[in-house]
Amino acid sequence: MRYRRMPIEAESPEEYGYDRIAHNLSESSVPDAHLRDLKLDLQDVVLLYGEHRGLKALREQIAAMYPGIEPDDVLVTPGAAAALFILHTALLSSGDHLIVQHPNYSTNLETPRAIGCELTRWRLSYDQGFSSDPDWLDGQIRARTRLISMTTPHNPSGQVLNPQVFEEIVERSLMSQANLLVDETYRDICYVEQSPLAATMDPRVISVSSLSKAYGLPGIRIGWIICRNKELMETCLAAKEQILICNSVVDETIALQVLSQRETWLDRMRTRAVDHLDILRNWMHQQDWLEWIEPEGGVVAFPRFKAEYREMPDASARLDQFYTQLLNKYGTFVGPGHWFEMPASYFRIGYAWPSTESLKAGLAGIDAAAAEAWA
Ligand SMILES: Cc1ncc(COP(=O)(O)O)c(C=O)c1O
Repeated sequence: MRYRRMPIEAESPEEYGYDRIAHNLSESSVPDAHLRDLKLDLQDVVLLYGEHRGLKALREQIAAMYPGIEPDDVLVTPGAAAALFILHTALLSSGDHLIVQHPNYSTNLETPRAIGCELTRWRLSYDQGFSSDPDWLDGQIRARTRLISMTTPHNPSGQVLNPQVFEEIVERSLMSQANLLVDETYRDICYVEQSPLAATMDPRVISVSSLSKAYGLPGIRIGWIICRNKELMETCLAAKEQILICNSVVDETIALQVLSQRETWLDRMRTRAVDHLDILRNWMHQQDWLEWIEPEGGVVAFPRFKAEYREMPDASARLDQFYTQLLNKYGTFVGPGHWFEMPASYFRIGYAWPSTESLKAGLAGIDAAAAEAWA
């Protein structure tokens, strides 16, 4: 493995310092929960090694959310990040080929690169509404294609795969030898119709998710893999045992207690996401500088500067000034395009994490910094 730090992590707000940011519009989750708000009972937790697949009661809770999924189809992991790492290392070897959506959450591209795989990028473009065309897959699948990897709701665009399109993608994937990995980390916040959980569709389809984004619990590091292929799940369990044996039993107990009040918890988070998306939409409707494809799920949007600004001969220097002033003068942090291997004229806005006041102040900061950069 050849590891390299990814800009999205090296430059993340937690690495930069939360105390240095006034308006944090760079997060991809609902607000982080406080332990005191969870009203937990942790006194009886025994600090032993947990069950290697994950606490049985937690796997039962997760499985019960999806028809046809059994607790043994679930492997609990420290976040979706570890789930992706386990899957990539279990399924891929150096020289293998995979097809992966681009842009994407960086780990989906970077771990296969670290393994030494050959990547074909499945490019999602603004001009096509960041949609995924199943026909494009024809002719891309090779004998050594081991994995087709996608994310829905998508990070950073917030687009959601339409159920019919998704079915076509599954069909085409199953005609090959490849597994289909679907990163569904944002699944629980969605504004349009979405497909059933991907892993329910076929044993060669794998779902990954976590409690980080829709539940606001990234600090307990609980995610999971769901797959109905017993052999693959056994390999993933072997990988998990070699990396960490088991999860933190404290994290698992917290996850179990939160999931047992899932609907109440999610209702609050969904209301927050919808209200803040309204604010963002109203702001976008009056935008001079930016254009966007409105998100259909998740908690992020990926606007870009309009052609008249991004295509100016000195646009690159103006964009540099924009990002510098946005942070230094207006205290506002967004996710710049390079976090997603995209041009600087794109950036990600996380609209659900900041307070309403901070979201509005951050958006005003974007207007002001753009006006100064293109003055
Ligand atoms: C699409 C996607 N998958 C996985 C992750 C990893 O999340 P976690 O490990 O906190 O569950 C992220 C984080 O930003 C993400 O956006």
